[in-house]
Amino acid sequence: MKDSYGREINYLRISLTDRCNLRCVYCMPEKGIEKVSHEDILTLEEVYEITEAFVDLGINKIRFTGGEPLTRKGIVSLIERVSKLSGVKDLAMTTNGLLLEKFSAALKEAGLNRVNISLDTLKEEKYIYITRGGKLGEILKGIEEARKVGLTPIKINTVLIGGFNDDEIIDFVKLTEKEEIDVRFIELMPIGEAAPWAKEKFVSNSIVLDKVRELAQVEREDNSSPAVYYKLPNGKGRVGLINPITCKFCENCNRIRLTSQGKLKLCLHSNKEIDIKEALRNGEDIKKLITKSILEKEESHKLEEGKYIRRNMNQIGG
Ligand code: GTP
Ligand code: 5AD
Ligand code: SF4
Repeated sequence: MKDSYGREINYLRISLTDRCNLRCVYCMPEKGIEKVSHEDILTLEEVYEITEAFVDLGINKIRFTGGEPLTRKGIVSLIERVSKLSGVKDLAMTTNGLLLEKFSAALKEAGLNRVNISLDTLKEEKYIYITRGGKLGEILKGIEEARKVGLTPIKINTVLIGGFNDDEIIDFVKLTEKEEIDVRFIELMPIGEAAPWAKEKFVSNSIVLDKVRELAQVEREDNSSPAVYYKLPNGKGRVGLINPITCKFCENCNRIRLTSQGKLKLCLHSNKEIDIKEALRNGEDIKKLITKSILEKEESHKLEEGKYIRRNMNQIGG
């Protein structure tokens, strides 16, 4: 599938739920989220049908996100089915890792290839603050279990937050020294209710390179990946920089998103949404709708013009 700017769209990010067992400061309002009625959420059967349509149209990389995808009941069976679709070359998940100790073995068995895990601090007290109550020990056990069963390469996503974790950059980088683990620093994006806070706490990823001079860039394997990778001399893992603010990567964008309510989002930073759920429930030809919709994908985000989306991150999945 090509969009109207000639970009090949082959990556679908599917959010399975808005709910989460954490409430990170930049992602969810403190009071939690509004309840969504059962009928408004795609059933897992519907998620499967829609995924199948996308794969028929050329999607070969699928990532499950949330909220926290592992809080959605039935996810292991869904992964089992999706992994059997012959067009799927890469099946991954982005998770906060809390439930990985319990689920890793079953996920691997079901056919999940790998996990990206969100972790913004290595300090217990700070983890409680940023996640509003999470236990660092649980996620560390989750990472260990994911590694043990081979949900690899494991990528840690660390959102850089001014005055919060910019003093831990070296500690995070060190994780890549002896282990085959990638740590990716992500520039904080102004999204939803937390947008004003995010603008205030923004730090450019260039400080990672300023602080760790030994990092050397490694050749790009995949041009459409938002991350640029570096390595320590003799480092086993990589350090990635995802710079949506200081270095827009929209030109090489290859992705679209499906929300848990069945809306197709063509760009993370756009308010435009196409209702695939309704079309499916009305018996319409969703492949036709998808093909037509792809042509409406925006050229790039407009964050520099102060155009922020209304939805919070937990409703999109990153
Ligand atoms: P890999 O397949 O392992 O490279 O993962 P990924 O980077 O595609 O997925 P992940 O869920 O780990 O996302 C990492 C970060 O990149 C998150 O903060 C996302 O919000 C951000 N991100 C991913 N895609 C886009 C995008 O199209 N635009 C912007 N602005 N940010 C994105
Ligand atoms: N800016 C940058 N990254 C974010 N994430 C969530 N909210 C933001 C934001 N405002 C990250 C999470 C997760 C990934 C899917 O997106 O930490 O790792
Ligand atoms: Fe949950 Fe992820 Fe949002 Fe944190 S960032 S509240 S883990 S969905």
